[in-house]
Amino acid sequence: MGKYNFDEITDRRGTNSLKYDFAAEWGRSQDAIPLWVADMDFPTAPEIIRKAEEVVRHGIFGYSEPLDGYYEAALSHYKRHFGWNPPKEWIVKTPGVVFAIAQCVRAFTDEGDGVIIQNPVYYPFTDVVKNNNRKLVDNPLKLNDHGVYEIDFDDFEKKAASPDTKMFLLCNPHNPVGRVWTKEELIRLEEICLKNHVLVISDEIHSDFVWEDNEFNVLVNIDDRYRENVITCTSPSKAFNLAGLQVSNIFIPDGTKRKQLTDEIWAGGYLYLNTIGLAACQAAYESGQDWLKAVKEYIWENILFCIDYTEKNLPGVKIIRPQGTYLVWMDYRGTGLSFKEIEDLINVKARVWLDDGSIFGKEGEGFERINVACPRAVLAEALERIKGVFLKKS
Ligand SMILES: Cc1ncc(COP(=O)(O)O)c(C=O)c1O
Repeated sequence: MGKYNFDEITDRRGTNSLKYDFAAEWGRSQDAIPLWVADMDFPTAPEIIRKAEEVVRHGIFGYSEPLDGYYEAALSHYKRHFGWNPPKEWIVKTPGVVFAIAQCVRAFTDEGDGVIIQNPVYYPFTDVVKNNNRKLVDNPLKLNDHGVYEIDFDDFEKKAASPDTKMFLLCNPHNPVGRVWTKEELIRLEEICLKNHVLVISDEIHSDFVWEDNEFNVLVNIDDRYRENVITCTSPSKAFNLAGLQVSNIFIPDGTKRKQLTDEIWAGGYLYLNTIGLAACQAAYESGQDWLKAVKEYIWENILFCIDYTEKNLPGVKIIRPQGTYLVWMDYRGTGLSFKEIEDLINVKARVWLDDGSIFGKEGEGFERINVACPRAVLAEALERIKGVFLKKS
C-alpha cells in the first residue's frame, strides 16, 4: 500500500451526504450503491483536513477575505499544471461553478437570448439557461465510429451566427462524455465565437483529471485575443473533493466584464467566501499535490478496471474511453433494450444508483454515467450487480 489507502471504505451514511443519505427522496432503493453525483468517496488530503481542523479550533468564523497566500497557492497550481500564469486581479470568487455560470447568464445575456450548450452535457447547464428564461441552443455532440465524441462545427457555426445567440457554455474536460478538447478544436470554437460576438463561459472544473497522452489547454491561455471573450471557471472541488466547502475561482481578464459579474453577484446578496472553504482551498493548492497525484493514479486504475470488466462481462455494453474526468460514460444501446428498460434494470433491479444518460438530454438516452472515484471493491460490487441483472435478462 502507498502513502494513502484509497481501498478503505469510509461510511458516508448519516453525514448529510447528498449521494448516500437521500435515496428515498430521489426514488432509489435504500441499499443502492450510489455512484452518481460527482464527488469522491475518499477523504481529502491529510494536509487539507489538518488546516480545516486548525480553523475550527480557532473557533471564530467571522467574515473572511483571502490574503495573498490564497492567490499565490491557486495561481501556482495553474502555472505548474497548465503553464498558465494569470494575475490575481482576474479572479472573482464564488461559492460554486454552477452559481458562477448562472450569474454569467444573468449578467451578460438578456431574457430570450440564445445560449449554446453541447448535449449530452452536465445537466445544470440546461437548467441555468432555462430557469433564467434564456433560449437553449443545442449543438449536439456526435459519436464517431471509433467511440469518440466530436463537435459538429457546421452546426455550431450556424447556431453561433444567429443574431440571438449571445453565449456558449463550454465544458472542458467534458462531463459526461469525457472528452478533453484538443487545442485545434478549442481554437476553432473560439474563433467562431469571436467572429460572432458570442461570449464563452469555459467550465474547466475537471481539468485536473486528464488521462493518458491527452493534453488539457486553458482556453483563454491559447491566444491573448481570447481575453475579452472568455470567462474561465475553476475550482479545487473536483480535484480535492471539496464540493461541500463551496469555493471556486472565476477568471475574468476583461475589467468591465469583471465588474459586471461582481455587480450581478452582489445584487444577489453574495459577498464573502466560507471561512473553512477558503482555508481548505489554499491548503489544497499549497500542499495537496502529492495526494492529488496518488488519487489520480488510483482513479485511473478504476477506469481501466471498469473498461476491462465491461468488455469481459457485459455483452452489448461499450465504454466511451474517458480522456478526462472521473466519470465514465457507458453505452448500453447495444443491449437492444430501450433506455427505460436499461434505467429500470440498473437503478431498480440491480440497485446501483447511476446518473441515467437521459438526464443529460435526449442524446444521452441508452447511456449511463458511473462515478468511479470510490474504493475499487465498491466499484466491483456495483458492476457485479449490473452483470447479475443483465445475465438474468438474457
Ligand atoms: C462540469 C461541471 N461543472 C460544475 C460542477 C459543479 O460545480 P460546483 O459544485 O462548484 O457548482 C460539476 C459537478 O459535477 C461539473 O461536472
